[in-house]
Amino acid sequence: MCADDVPPLARPDLLSRRVQAIPASGIRRFFELIANMEGVISLGVGEPDCVTPRRFTDAAVRALADGQTHDTSNYGIPELRQAVSDHLDRLYGVRYDPASEILITTGVSEGLLLATHATLDSGDEVLCPDPYYVAYLPCVALAGGVFVPVPTDPENDFRVRAEDVEAHVTPRTKAILIGYPANPTGASMTRDDLLALADVAARHNLVVISDEIYDRLTYGLPHTCFASLPGMRERTILLGGFSKAYAMTGWRVGWACAPASAGGGPASGGDILEAMMKVHQYIIMSAPTPSQYAALEALRNGEDEVQTMVAEYDRRRRLIVDGFNRLGLTCFEPRGAFYAFPSVRSTGLSDHDFAERLLLEEKVAVVPGSAFGQCGVGHVRACYAAPYEQIEEALERIGRFVGRHRS
Ligand SMILES: Cc1ncc(COP(=O)(O)O)c(C=O)c1O
Repeated sequence: MCADDVPPLARPDLLSRRVQAIPASGIRRFFELIANMEGVISLGVGEPDCVTPRRFTDAAVRALADGQTHDTSNYGIPELRQAVSDHLDRLYGVRYDPASEILITTGVSEGLLLATHATLDSGDEVLCPDPYYVAYLPCVALAGGVFVPVPTDPENDFRVRAEDVEAHVTPRTKAILIGYPANPTGASMTRDDLLALADVAARHNLVVISDEIYDRLTYGLPHTCFASLPGMRERTILLGGFSKAYAMTGWRVGWACAPASAGGGPASGGDILEAMMKVHQYIIMSAPTPSQYAALEALRNGEDEVQTMVAEYDRRRRLIVDGFNRLGLTCFEPRGAFYAFPSVRSTGLSDHDFAERLLLEEKVAVVPGSAFGQCGVGHVRACYAAPYEQIEEALERIGRFVGRHRS
């Protein structure tokens, strides 16, 4: 048969319905626009502006020079698992066995996918505060689950109320997926907020997937680790990572912790971490080896760097939140992460038009809040992990823009 005789691939069912049903990230379109523009100040991407501290990079280079070029244990190198265990114990008093309850992942991105694939069957419902991080819905949907947004609002600083979560529980509810401090709002939950949520999880026998990637980036409101709450360790999948607090996005490394065998909780008869590990070993094998050594250095000796970055983010946070409020773009005070989430309703523009026109007219990139769910409508996300002077300049440009568009 020559190539001309071969029938082309033509079948309407070519692409999986699951994948087709997932929306493309609402953020991507903006990044494509920015890529072709000069002089843009980007408050769009949610990643630290600084490069990884040199000492962490050096540790990876040393490991490579020493011949650490192979895959590691599927779980990750034992020293890093031990360091994660010590770290969580030191910060939150929550203990995980490094041998059986900690998995080193290729970032929280992978951890989310593992958590949903390990726990969900088709039709299982997952409750999640809205607005939500863009990957949450796809991770649930790809695992066959049903994503159920639970509304939050600026009047409550975008903290989810336990009673609102409970109002969405059905016989099909399997899990609650939370991410605090939150992307895109910067919202943080108080310990009491989380205790109320824990009560709902316990009474309805739910798994809690807790994405705590921003746990170190808090401003005045200490972070509460969900697994540290009474009785919650047994039903929580705790996800954490290095991308944000250690400025290590490109290294693709994080951790997942879960009870090896839960008794009485929703996982009784199952071992959550081992189930996640099964998926991990077939799709990833092991997290990048040099990244694991950089991460080890970060956990062992990186506290000064974390503190320096947090202090600097706090300075920028105050600048941007005050700036938005002065311009009439009402912004609650975010207590964590590195995002501000002002309302743009006073301009009469939709969040989408606001973001697009601001980019085209003043070359400042922010992300429309509707990219993060229905409750983000009317807001924009501005990431303040950008140099202080750039934020000052961005606020000036936004001021000009708002002056022209105020309704
Ligand atoms: C809430 C949240 N979870 C997870 C991630 C992805 O984390 P990682 O870089 O560790 O894959 C991000 C990145 O923006 C995030 O904002």
